[in-house]
Amino acid sequence: MIVAIDGPSGTGKSSTSKAVAETLGLSYLDTGAQYRAITWWMLTNGVPVDDAAAVAAAASEPVIVSGTDPAAPTIAVDGTDASGPIRTKEVTAAVSSVSAVPEVRSRITALQRSIAAEAAGGIVVEGRDIGTTVLPDADLKVFLTASPEARASRRSGELKGKDATDLSATREALIQRDAADSGRKTSPLKKADDAVEVDTTQLTLEQVVECVVTLVEKAADAKSGGSRGPDGAGGAGGADEKAGQISK
Ligand code: DC
Repeated sequence: MIVAIDGPSGTGKSSTSKAVAETLGLSYLDTGAQYRAITWWMLTNGVPVDDAAAVAAAASEPVIVSGTDPAAPTIAVDGTDASGPIRTKEVTAAVSSVSAVPEVRSRITALQRSIAAEAAGGIVVEGRDIGTTVLPDADLKVFLTASPEARASRRSGELKGKDATDLSATREALIQRDAADSGRKTSPLKKADDAVEVDTTQLTLEQVVECVVTLVEKAADAKSGGSRGPDGAGGAGGADEKAGQISK
């Protein structure tokens, strides 16, 4: 079972993906952490991050290793734990330009595909281009959205005391990063045509997790040939399905 969860920052992607993986006994991969890790390596090795040619030339150098236990995911660069440094303001400010470089994307995409292929019991992979590019044959694709206000307030809550405390600055930074991630040429942030969109603006984390777990169970059922609807369609939704309006 391969589950792709994409969407912009602040939609609850990481918390949702980890909780869904834990609930269902699947592995978990945070692909944003990998782009942050390569960005951190570029910064600490003096590579000018706005120089695409310099970034491309160095893209194959760092050795990035991701641990996929959803209860304790890890990220290491050249054998050093990078989970703290990848969350700094400097890395966040540079990650969109580094991750727009095609050589960086092809290297990280290959790594992501091999991790997904080796996850014996199945995996939840979260990112921006998982459903469109990295794993286009995923059994379930979910695209999380939320209003800019909800995303900014969740992000400032997460970052309190660390990087950002000002809501409007956080909102601006988020909007800029999303615009860069959506506007880049190589595999931009985009909903896959066959992804189920879940608008999390009015939902608690528990509600989003419950919604996605149900979608995964439906997809697993469809994969094993069970639970077909009257038209024989079955499956976990398609282009027109919107799951964000669930009410309890
Ligand atoms: O999920 P995050 O905020 O930690 O991701 C950091 C950046 O990494 C994001 O701004 C764009 C990039 N990214 C990407 O280009 N493709 C992915 N699949 C995941 C993240």
